[in-house]
Amino acid sequence: MPEPAIAAKQPAVLELDPGVYWWCRCGRSNTQPFCDGSHKGTEFTPMELKLEERRRVALCCCKHTGTPPICDGTHKGL
Ligand code: FES
Repeated sequence: MPEPAIAAKQPAVLELDPGVYWWCRCGRSNTQPFCDGSHKGTEFTPMELKLEERRRVALCCCKHTGTPPICDGTHKGL
């Protein structure tokens, strides 16, 4: 698997309503932290994030987190 692009070295902290979201795994999306289809032609596919209730989440934007799609602080060492 190739290295994902680093979209940002900080997470996107969002208050999200219940529903299904698609987290960008490739780092190329222009609508971070969500997929906009820019991964086409790469080996990456987005990751589904399903929320049953309204929740505050810190979504990884460096794309190197060990707990995708949630930030684990890995960006601090990049
Ligand atoms: Fe990055 Fe779709 S744009 S996974």
